[in-house]
Amino acid sequence: MKLAVIGTGYVGLVTGTCFSDLGNDVTCIDVNQAKVEGLKQGIIPIYEPGLSELVLRNHEEGRLSFTTSVAEAVPDADVVYIAVGTPQSDSGAADLSAVWKVVEDIAPHLREDAVVVVKSTVPVGTNGKVFDLLQKLTGRECHVASNPEFLKEGSAIDDFMYPDRVVCGVRNKKSEEILRQLHAPLLRTAKPILFMSPESSELTKYAANAMLATKISFINEIANLSEKVGADINDVRIGMGHDQRIGFQFLFPGLGYGGSCFPKDVRALTSLSETLDLEPRIMRAVDEVNVHQRSSLVRKIDAHYKGDVAGKTFGVWGLAFKPKTDDIREAPALDLLQYLIEKGAKIMVHDPEAMENIRAMFGDKINKYCENVLEAVEGVDCLAINTEWNEYRTPDFKQLKAKMKEAVIFDGRNLFDLEILEQAGFTYYSVGRRPVKADRS
Ligand code: UDX
Repeated sequence: MKLAVIGTGYVGLVTGTCFSDLGNDVTCIDVNQAKVEGLKQGIIPIYEPGLSELVLRNHEEGRLSFTTSVAEAVPDADVVYIAVGTPQSDSGAADLSAVWKVVEDIAPHLREDAVVVVKSTVPVGTNGKVFDLLQKLTGRECHVASNPEFLKEGSAIDDFMYPDRVVCGVRNKKSEEILRQLHAPLLRTAKPILFMSPESSELTKYAANAMLATKISFINEIANLSEKVGADINDVRIGMGHDQRIGFQFLFPGLGYGGSCFPKDVRALTSLSETLDLEPRIMRAVDEVNVHQRSSLVRKIDAHYKGDVAGKTFGVWGLAFKPKTDDIREAPALDLLQYLIEKGAKIMVHDPEAMENIRAMFGDKINKYCENVLEAVEGVDCLAINTEWNEYRTPDFKQLKAKMKEAVIFDGRNLFDLEILEQAGFTYYSVGRRPVKADRS
């Protein structure tokens, strides 16, 4: 099939590239000329494992091309995917201006039998509005469907190629058939493709993300309670997770959820409910708990040093909102860095992928950007951990202690065993577990 995918952000690029890898003829379109030129040479604007190889291979083999011109790609397309950004606006609602612009751009070029598929995460009812606008602009009823994405950054290609399910919102058989055909190679392992109304499909996406965010805020709240009552959240988590109705996934306590999806989607769903005169009590609480949790490491640091961190040197491991990405949007590390800068602390940071993004935001307010994990703890008063990159999981604690001025660790991701840290002589604060205090006698 011939596809035009509009928007080469994270979702559009992964979707277009993977569909080309499945043998379709895909043109990815973006308004950003520099980005398009870069992509033609295999320069990927984001870090996503496996993506650059896949882009290069499919581009070289002629199934994947890039352009800035809608007029070039849309007239031939059997399917036009809209995968532009829908950022949070000041009110919390999703800003759909990029979606409307695309609809206006494609309308004059759209083939009569083409199916327009909205991939962007959009408020419930948007698909209907896209349908109405296209009808107004073309003078006919176009095929407009919804096909939300469930990709996780860091494992987006696998998530695309091996989905748990594919959700499609359709209003006629033609769209259903095209989407079934397009996804057939992904569904060999008996995973379902679910057809429903566009409204249900749009809501499914938000509800799934909000449910996962709820699990995270819930476990973080229980973690905070664990600290107060002397329980260990890790034991509690495992005890809960064995109940098959609960399960283990998305029950890791930490510094709250970040990234481009959960915070934005929870707020968009809250805002949608409010505009419909509903009281989205759970979603408001999920966001509130999360905002509070993001600064939980800061509160522990502040309590340990009684607010006096000026002149102290902090080693910081992990800046990305989660491992295997360079994304720092809504990352808990930002709260920590902001606090340390305001308080006049010295900061040495390490992250395998996200340092350039942090440099662009904080520049020389951060004293040292370290290429090496151990370099970031050289002579520091303490180490703070924001992201659970694998390379942080098994340090040689003897070596670590020898490098640090003081053996103090604030761990926002529960990477280490309490007993091991105790034996190694560290003061160690983690999430939902008792603090370990180094014996100074
Ligand atoms: C998420 C959804 O998983 C995906 O389906 C959707 O399409 C986009 O949003 P993503 O934001 O890439 O994907 O990351 P994910 O792995 O889901 O993690 C989100 C956040 O939750 C991260 O900040 C992570 O640290 C946090 N998290 C996750 C926890 O704090 N605890 C957990 O148990 C799981």
